[in-house]
Amino acid sequence: MYKLIDKLEKDHVLSKEEYKKLISGFDSDLSGYLFEKARNTRHRFYGKDVYIRGLIEFTNYCKNDCLYCGIRCGNKNAQRYRLTKDDILLCCKEGYELGFRTFVLQGGEDPYFTDERMTDIIRTIKSDYPDCALTLSLGEKEHESYKAFFDAGADRYLLRHETANPAHYSKLHPPELSWQRRVNCLYDLKAIGYQVGCGFMVGSPYQTADDLAQELIFLKELDPQMVGIGPFIAHHDTPFRNEKSGTMELTLFMLGLIRLTLPDVLLPSTTALGTIHPLGREKGILAGANVVMPNLSPVSVRKKYMLYDNKICTGDEAAECRYCLQTRMKSIGYNVVTSRGDHFQSSKRLRSSKQSVQSIATAEKLTD
Ligand code: 5AD
Ligand code: FES
Repeated sequence: MYKLIDKLEKDHVLSKEEYKKLISGFDSDLSGYLFEKARNTRHRFYGKDVYIRGLIEFTNYCKNDCLYCGIRCGNKNAQRYRLTKDDILLCCKEGYELGFRTFVLQGGEDPYFTDERMTDIIRTIKSDYPDCALTLSLGEKEHESYKAFFDAGADRYLLRHETANPAHYSKLHPPELSWQRRVNCLYDLKAIGYQVGCGFMVGSPYQTADDLAQELIFLKELDPQMVGIGPFIAHHDTPFRNEKSGTMELTLFMLGLIRLTLPDVLLPSTTALGTIHPLGREKGILAGANVVMPNLSPVSVRKKYMLYDNKICTGDEAAECRYCLQTRMKSIGYNVVTSRGDHFQSSKRLRSSKQSVQSIATAEKLTD
C-alpha cells in the first residue's frame, strides 16, 4: 500500500484497481503517510498560502429535484429567496474590503436569472472590481449561455459532476437529469476557456470503493483546474433523510489522493467537511487542500441555503467568517492570502501574456 502511494507521488496516476485497493484498505497510518506527501506536493506549487473565495449564495430557487439536496424543488419546507443585483453588489463591496479577490456566485438552477440578468450582473461586478476573479456556479446551461457569461467577463465555473459513475448518478437524481449531459457541460466549459471545477460527494448513498476509484480516473481524464469534494450529509426534508453521512476520514483520504493525482489543482477544504467535524477544514488543508470558501451571503438568508443539515457559519457575519478562517489557518501554520488565487498553470499563462504585452510595448518604444 505504501508503495502504491510512492508510485502515485512519482507518476501522478494509478490504475483503477490500485486506487481501489488504497480506498478500500486505508487506515490512519497510511493516511498520515499520504497526507505528508500531499502537503509536500501542495507546498511545491502554492507554499503555505491558502486562497480564499467569497461565496455569495444568491438564490435558493431550483428547478431540479436532486434526491440529496435540501433546496430541491420538491422540498416545500424550504423558504425561498433571491438576492437582487444591489444585494449581490453589496456582498462584493463588503468582500472586497475584507480582502477577497475572488467572488463565487452560487445558486440553484433558477430560471428567473436569465442570461440577460446574469450577464448584466457579471459585467457590473467585473467593471467595479477589475482586479477580481469571478466564479459562477449556476448548474447546467446551454453552450450559448456559458459563452455569453464568459464573454461578459466570468473567469471560472464550478459544476460538480457528483459521481463519475452514470449508474450511480441515476440513483442520486430524478430520471430527467442525465450524467452525460452534465459531463458534456464540463467539457463545454473547458473548451470555452473557463478555469473549470468539478467535484463529488464522499459517502453518498450507494457509493462504492469502485465508484471512488472511478472518480480519480475521471479527474485524470477531465484534468480540471479545481475539484470540490465534501462528505454527503443527510438533509431532513429529502428522500435521503435517513442515509448515513460520509466520513471525515474517507473525505480526507480522497483529498490526499486528488492532490497527488492532480498536483497543482485548486482544492477547497469545504464547509461540509467543517460541518461533520469542528476541525474538518483544518484537517482538509493538512491533507493537501489549498482553498477555503468563507460565506459572504447576507446573514438574513444564510439559514435558507441549507443543502444539508447543521451547515456551519449560518449565523456569522462575513467578517467573522473571514477572520475565523484566518485564525484557524494560522493555527496550523498556513496563511490566508489576498490574491485572485489562480490555478498554477493558468496564472503562469496570465503572467506570460502580461509579460509579452509588456515586451511588445517595450519593443514598440524602442522602434519609435
Ligand atoms: N450533502 C453534502 N453535499 C451536498 N451538496 C448538495 N446536497 C448535499 C448534501 N446533502 C453539494 C453538491 C452540490 C454542492 C453545491 O453541494 O455536491 O453540487
Ligand atoms: Fe464561518 Fe468560522 S468560518 S464562523
